[in-house]
Amino acid sequence: MNEKTSTARAHTNIALMKYWGKKDAALNLPTTSSLSLTLKEFYTDTMVTEGREDTLLINNLMQDPTRVHKFLDFLRAEKGDFPPLTVVSKNVVPTSAGLASSASSFAALTAAVAHYNDWDLSLEELSRLARRGSGSATRSFFPGFAVWHEGHDDQSSFAESLPESTMPIALVVCEVAKTTKKVSSSDGMQRAMTSPDYEAWVAKSHEQFDVMQAALAANDLETVGAIAEENALAMHALNMSATDRRFTYFSQMTIDIIAFVKELRKQGFLAYATIDAGPNVKIITRQDQAEEIKEKALASFRKLKVEIATPGPGLSYIEENDFADEALKINNEI
Ligand code: PMV
Repeated sequence: MNEKTSTARAHTNIALMKYWGKKDAALNLPTTSSLSLTLKEFYTDTMVTEGREDTLLINNLMQDPTRVHKFLDFLRAEKGDFPPLTVVSKNVVPTSAGLASSASSFAALTAAVAHYNDWDLSLEELSRLARRGSGSATRSFFPGFAVWHEGHDDQSSFAESLPESTMPIALVVCEVAKTTKKVSSSDGMQRAMTSPDYEAWVAKSHEQFDVMQAALAANDLETVGAIAEENALAMHALNMSATDRRFTYFSQMTIDIIAFVKELRKQGFLAYATIDAGPNVKIITRQDQAEEIKEKALASFRKLKVEIATPGPGLSYIEENDFADEALKINNEI
């Protein structure tokens, strides 16, 4: 076995305009384009090296490699064969943040595999491939704001960077203490598509997309926040109105924080809420108001954990790392 390794770092991203539904499940083509902010504070480092079989270690713990193995087989079929890989991943997400890491994980994995195999691929091409692992991963290759174009076929559905922005945006990430029963994002969006309001959400999202992009270009954070909140709350309303097993990711505290955000606006803060496939709330605000909002949130809610996140960089490759020993350990164990 050769000891060549390749390590990539991808930061996580939060959608300001959500991906919530597939028009083609096999190709992972979304029903809408989505728009996100990459976060500096949260990222995943992933190293790959040859192994005896495809294996996965995250934060020092062996994981079920089924999803990763399936994705690696997709890459083999698409780009050419490569040996079984040991995948060693570290999620650098403050444990309190409670952020999903599939976006940064699949972006880092796609890049590490491409680098390992000396495939010379553009970021757009990496994004297109990562889509098949996790839709939100398409956007984690790019710094700051990124757009995933829904596209109409395999070739046309990938993300790219929006022009560099100086917008002083911050997210106050609130992890609520109690989690509701988990519904995976794939299952959740499939159920949401059975809502009688689904088509209207898609049509509205297309409209909001243009307004959001214009607001970004004009540095209009107020409009960006307002649209993001409207888009996210309408997405969650779809879950609640699904005709197939309606559900919600909200807990009581999610609802209370949404009300708290409205109250912040009354007090003159720039504050809007966005929520993903879980009960946590991310408050969109200005960097100079983030600390005060964090303090107010901590004072208002018992057991709430809060982190401030700011715009982050795009994909990078890491030359020096401490993963090799761990990989060797796994290879010796199996
Ligand atoms: O890519 P997935 O399967 O993790 O789905 C992401 C879904 C949301 O986070 C709720 C929205 C989004 O666009 O990131």
